[in-house]
Amino acid sequence: MLRVLTESRERARAALPPEVWDYYEAGAGDEVTLGGAEAAWRDYRLRPRVLRDVSRVDLATRLLDTEAASPFVVAPMALHTLAHPDGECATVRGAAAAGCLTVVSTRASRTLEEIGAAATGPWWFQAYLMRDRALTEALVRRAAAAGARALVLTVDTPYVGRKGRVTGVRIAVPDDTYLVNLAQHLVPGAVAREAAEQDPSMTPDTIAHLAEVSGLPVVVKGVLRGDEAARCVEAGAAGVVVSTHGGRQLDRVVASAHALPDVLEGVGGRVPVLVDGGIRSGTDALVALALGADAVLVGRPVLWALTAGGAEGVREALQALADDLQHVLAVAGAARPADLDRSMVTAG
Ligand code: FNR
Repeated sequence: MLRVLTESRERARAALPPEVWDYYEAGAGDEVTLGGAEAAWRDYRLRPRVLRDVSRVDLATRLLDTEAASPFVVAPMALHTLAHPDGECATVRGAAAAGCLTVVSTRASRTLEEIGAAATGPWWFQAYLMRDRALTEALVRRAAAAGARALVLTVDTPYVGRKGRVTGVRIAVPDDTYLVNLAQHLVPGAVAREAAEQDPSMTPDTIAHLAEVSGLPVVVKGVLRGDEAARCVEAGAAGVVVSTHGGRQLDRVVASAHALPDVLEGVGGRVPVLVDGGIRSGTDALVALALGADAVLVGRPVLWALTAGGAEGVREALQALADDLQHVLAVAGAARPADLDRSMVTAG
């Protein structure tokens, strides 16, 4: 893990109330998947090229129609105001200052309009299909109007994973934070949180439906198998994110780093493939890109950085990751991510 990230992690641990720290860090079940996520990237070994001109390295990345300065993307995560009063507004500003794309969560704690106004760079919106489908439709339309350029539909959460460490975080988060983007579309009353829960009856039809409602491309997040990825692409997915949801959904699922090759094979180059889970350095990203990923999402390190330093902290963390990737790309003999290929990485 990069030193900048280790340091902000320690600062965040000291600054946050213990229940918020646990909510951010927790994984599902016995945390087997969470515990193995970072190490799984270290299972691969690199086969560098030599005698390439790497005097200039360019990390520019294009995802669908979105241009970014680097392949590091901020993963969608709930409730950034628990980390910093400016919440997601600070996150999008910090990410944009580093030239990075942000994916804003359905569970964001600032309004989409505030986030859209604060954003000085591109952002996508992460959607859950909620039990009240009209709520999801209203939300994705609002996200598009506020400036989101794509949707990320999270499909690994028919029910929220049971996290042993977290005791009643939902109870601790007041409605005006938890439902800040949702309350206006709901009839007031005790059922509000139920209507906003994920709909476990979701099928692939949702992909085309949300694309039509929002007018945006839909990237599907939370896929760990090639055959399931192919099924998403055939249903209209504009991209796929290989993800274990940060080890927070089904414990003992395969590490993203190990699932990535199978998903890439299933997708067969038809749409971009992104990956997240345990990416903590430029070398982790280098492995992912060499395997064939188009970009990598970073989760918890962004929350640590936001806690420790607000927008500037987020910029610093993402810039440090980009600087590290730029360095290791050069040393591996690649002047840009597109110069990497599968032959440059081997198991063990
Ligand atoms: C998440 N993640 C997540 N994913 C999603 O699609 N919608 C969400 O609202 C959230 N919320 C959320 C909250 C917190 C506190 C965490 C830590 C994670 C999962 C996230 O997008 C991503 O998949 C992982 O966090 C990536 O793994 P790392 O980088 O945290 O190891």
